Amino acid sequence: MPKWLSRQRLFLLLKKNVWLLFPLISIVQFFFTFGEFKYEHIPVERVNDYLYKHVNPNLKLVNTKAECKYDDILHHTQLTQVREMKKMLNFTPKGIMNGSFAPEECNPAMSVAILVTYRNRQSQLDVFIPYIHTFLRKQNIHYKIYVIEQQDDKPWNKGLLYNIGAKQAIAEKFPCLILHDVDLLPLDHSNLYVCLNQPRHMSASIDKFRFVLIYNTLVGGVLAITSEHYKLLNGFSNRFLGWGGEDDDFASRISANKLDILRFPQHMARYTMLRHQQEPENSARYAIMLDGRRRAASDGLGSVAFASVGVRPQRLYTLITVRV
Ligand code: BGC
Repeated sequence: MPKWLSRQRLFLLLKKNVWLLFPLISIVQFFFTFGEFKYEHIPVERVNDYLYKHVNPNLKLVNTKAECKYDDILHHTQLTQVREMKKMLNFTPKGIMNGSFAPEECNPAMSVAILVTYRNRQSQLDVFIPYIHTFLRKQNIHYKIYVIEQQDDKPWNKGLLYNIGAKQAIAEKFPCLILHDVDLLPLDHSNLYVCLNQPRHMSASIDKFRFVLIYNTLVGGVLAITSEHYKLLNGFSNRFLGWGGEDDDFASRISANKLDILRFPQHMARYTMLRHQQEPENSARYAIMLDGRRRAASDGLGSVAFASVGVRPQRLYTLITVRV
């Protein structure tokens, strides 16, 4: 230590300027995460080349109607304002049955099952459901919303809920699955809710994380994946209990199967997160992840029979109840 800077002097200097630490930490943090604002993505002009154009064979298409178009939606970058959000909640369920909707003016080129895992967050569901219907009805797609509710008091098992929802949606012949947190609302109209020919992480830019992609292999929040790929990966692990880890484990299944994680540009992938109390964190998640590769074949979509399941169609969504 230089002579002019004695230990006592250093201590006094730090004590006097402690307030400086906070802006300093923010600046360091800002530069540390800055690059992730510019994460790798598909340019909007190329999205058409990646679209997974498959409709549910159960949907009746009408010969006299033209195929729906998607270019205008992809280029319609318009951020939802708070005032508009309130309007979106005040909606009428016209055209919706069992949580399902298809446009009338044209034949949709894509069908999507939206799987929403849920427990004990009624106030969020009350916002999410009208909001997402209003958002999706403008997208020229055929979609159906499933809410998969864990109805017991056992630790939260999100992977299991997704597997059960996926099983049902696949049995109903949906070619594309969108796995959706109930607390995330898409903000930009151009964020088309469809699958691409590789898995797509849709919620790359969330206000809670200052609109930054926090790490490159993140697939949590909202993820679109074809039913074929979901089956190939054997879905999610059923072993992650509590908050966290199941999505990271799923990301390693994606890479083990040599699939990519695609994303839309940052401005299209913006979401707002509704406030909530998080499920208790799963501190064992890193340890469980370690043997992911060995587990993948035996722990997933094919091994959910231990849970008891009920399917109850309602007007705005199909409710799937799960008890472990
Ligand atoms: C958890 C993930 C979560 C991510 C972002 C990670 O530590 O393991 O499950 O999606 O943080 O919140």
